[in-house]
Amino acid sequence: MTEGLALRHISVHFGGLTALDDISLDVPPGAVVGVIGPNGAGKTTLFNVVCGFVRPETGTMTLDGQPLRPRPQQLTRLGIARTLQGIGQFSGLTVLENVMAGAGRDARTGVLSALFSMPRTDRDEHRLRDAAMSALRTCGVAEYAAARPDGLPYAVRKRVGLARALVARPRILLLDEPAGGLGAQEIDELATLISGLHCSVLVVEHHMDLVMSICDRILVLDFGKQVAIGTPTEVSADPAVAEAYLGADAGQPQ
Ligand SMILES: Nc1ncnc2c1ncn2[C@@H]1O[C@H](COP(=O)(O)OP(=O)(O)OP(=O)(O)O)[C@@H](O)[C@H]1O
Ligand SMILES: [Mg+2]
Repeated sequence: MTEGLALRHISVHFGGLTALDDISLDVPPGAVVGVIGPNGAGKTTLFNVVCGFVRPETGTMTLDGQPLRPRPQQLTRLGIARTLQGIGQFSGLTVLENVMAGAGRDARTGVLSALFSMPRTDRDEHRLRDAAMSALRTCGVAEYAAARPDGLPYAVRKRVGLARALVARPRILLLDEPAGGLGAQEIDELATLISGLHCSVLVVEHHMDLVMSICDRILVLDFGKQVAIGTPTEVSADPAVAEAYLGADAGQPQ
């Protein structure tokens, strides 16, 4: 049995365009795995396959050896969490309530009942509140629990988004460009935070410094194909990787 998340021979086409071509990837328990590549390489598509937003035409996925056919609304139950693109927080709720809303549907009953005056059990509410506070502490932003997200610095809100993904204690955390919009020091702090998490992490990121410092393994994609896979050292020494980036418009690793 392959432990953790395993993708085998995943292919996705959009019309005549090959977004992913026979991609295989393992995310073992506790590992941090990065996906990089030039614009349009297929990184987000790979993410969306794992989240169930895109169905691959070929290939299989397993989670701890069990077939994985994710549906976006069932991710929490499967032990998978993702950060939302950008910020995506409710401005009418406090930071703590936003994080509580990140838990699965069952645990969310408390938040929903608070909003819509539905009956609830106080014990569930307390448990969820404790889990949310603990996730905020893990992300170093517990002091903002009672604040509304609107007025908070961008870096704090990004961390609240991370806490929101962590509240249900996922086995696998999917991070979609977590360093986007952050400064150099904030990225360093984020690297420390991600490295200290106790779950597996699959991260798509344009900041090479972050990817190189936190990832155990890196998959490099270009035009939907695997260009390289290996440790940060192996990947950065691979001529095919430099070629993929030099061929791209940006000319710089992203
Ligand atoms: N829903 C869709 N319909 C049609 N084409 C799509 C769709 N989603 C992605 N594509 C195309 O598939 C290819 C891969 O896109 P994808 O978004 O996965 O790339 P990416 O590596 O995330 O790029 P970026 O670094 O710009 O975010 C691109 O050519 C893109 O235009
Ligand atoms: Mg993308």
